[in-house]
Amino acid sequence: MARNSLWKRILFGYLAIVVFMMAMSVYLIFRLNYLNKVTDSIMRADIPFIENGEKLVDCLLEQVRNEKKYLVTNDNAFMDLFDQKKREFLERLKYLEESLADREKGEKIQQTNDLYKKYLSLVSKEIILAGREGIVSPDARYEEEKKKTLDQLTGSINTLILVTQTELIKKIGLFQQIGYKSTRISLVIILFAVLFGLLFAYFFTRSICLPIKILKDATEHIAQGDLDHRIEVTSGDEIGTLGMAFNLMCTKLKEMDQMKTDFVSHVSHNLKTPLTVIREANDLLLKKVAGPISEAQRKLLNITKEETLRLTMMINDLLDISRIEAGLMRYNFQYSSIQEIIRKSADEIRFLAESKHIHIQWSKRGDIPKVLLDREKIAQVLDNLLSNAIKFTSSGGRIAITVNEVDSKTVPQFFAEHNRLNTVRSFVRVSISDTGIGIPVECHKTIFDKFQQVSNKGKGGMKGTGLGLSIVKHIILDHGGDIWVESARGEGSTFHFTLPFRYDYALFS
Ligand SMILES: Nc1ncnc2c1ncn2[C@@H]1O[C@H](COP(=O)(O)OP(=O)(O)OP(=O)(O)O)[C@@H](O)[C@H]1O
Ligand SMILES: [Mg+2]
Repeated sequence: MARNSLWKRILFGYLAIVVFMMAMSVYLIFRLNYLNKVTDSIMRADIPFIENGEKLVDCLLEQVRNEKKYLVTNDNAFMDLFDQKKREFLERLKYLEESLADREKGEKIQQTNDLYKKYLSLVSKEIILAGREGIVSPDARYEEEKKKTLDQLTGSINTLILVTQTELIKKIGLFQQIGYKSTRISLVIILFAVLFGLLFAYFFTRSICLPIKILKDATEHIAQGDLDHRIEVTSGDEIGTLGMAFNLMCTKLKEMDQMKTDFVSHVSHNLKTPLTVIREANDLLLKKVAGPISEAQRKLLNITKEETLRLTMMINDLLDISRIEAGLMRYNFQYSSIQEIIRKSADEIRFLAESKHIHIQWSKRGDIPKVLLDREKIAQVLDNLLSNAIKFTSSGGRIAITVNEVDSKTVPQFFAEHNRLNTVRSFVRVSISDTGIGIPVECHKTIFDKFQQVSNKGKGGMKGTGLGLSIVKHIILDHGGDIWVESARGEGSTFHFTLPFRYDYALFS
């Protein structure tokens, strides 16, 4: 398995998000647990403590009331009530004592206990005295001290309640603080998780989309016939493997294309000799070298002559394309008059045009200096363009040829696509217009590719192999020029081609 593969990246990305979430959950659980403990201590200790404290005061007041009533009435029922409240008081005090861990509060309870004992002893002394002296009202000797003790006792209990209430308020404050802090920390963790998630999603999507776009562009290159295009494989993941497979596919395609070209070139080459022999034999038969021929035989021999000529031209085109693709096309560049070449080509093809009642209009206007070119190849270009014009123009149409010098800036196609000869100052532009069937805009680029023909249903098109314009384009590009078409369906076509003309060291005839 490849290192740093896609699935690993996805796994680590999601794992990181899960870890963030888990960290947040653990933190929140920990905090909630702490809050639970605080709540628990409030519910179990503080609130019951305060309640008991308050009841302790009630109990004490009840005792004081009963003790007084007893002293006045000497009724034992009050003494019983006093004893009952005394037991309750002691139980509650014991409860408070047991529920504390706090030393300060412990001391206060001890103090309460002592004061209560003091109060009890004062009460019992008073009762004994009352029994002995028959006094029916509270004795003034003890009254003062008992009152003082009772004040101290209620003061001590109230202090206990107050301390516990303060603690309770503190705990509630802490509770609130923890709540706020937990919310803040949770928000920060969520923010980090969201940020990380977004960054992860962005970079991960980008790391997939970018190579896919490169792959898509490369596929378009291959589809346009650029079989040398390769992808730079930089990653070792699944997409990198896909890129390597793509490159392998391109290499195989290139090999197969080469095999096909070699095969076509080989077959074409081997067909050429027998075809020449057939043509010559046909000519000899037509010239009656082998004896007289009938009218019907002459017609048939003329048909075979035409067809072998077509076949020869087709084979020549195939061989030209093979040579061009193998980089074996040889040029013989010379300074020549382009006007002279055009005149010759137009004259040669005129008889074919006239047979279709098509008028070729070529008028030489002024002298154009000689251009560096291969005469034969440029003648081949003109023959191809003119024969196309005748082929796709109906009877009675017109073909016009014009030549003029144009500034390099007015030939944008050339500079946009090739940008090679930046020393070129101007070009010779040859334009061949016809009044034929025209070419739809979407085919303006593709017709210059091999075997590309516009489907012209019912208009006599599609005759030929579709190699002519491809060869023409190669020849013109090899001259440093460019070729393009201006046309619309049904509105005729104008093919323009340019040849570099004035360099910085322009030569004039
Ligand atoms: N002057 C034109 N008017 C209309 N269509 C044209 C013209 N020239 C070329 N085309 C279109 O461009 C296609 C390609 O032309 P190209 O010369 O490459 O092939 P071809 O003429 O069909 O065959 P070949 O030239 O190999 O015998 C033609 O089939 C035709 O559809
Ligand atoms: Mg053609």
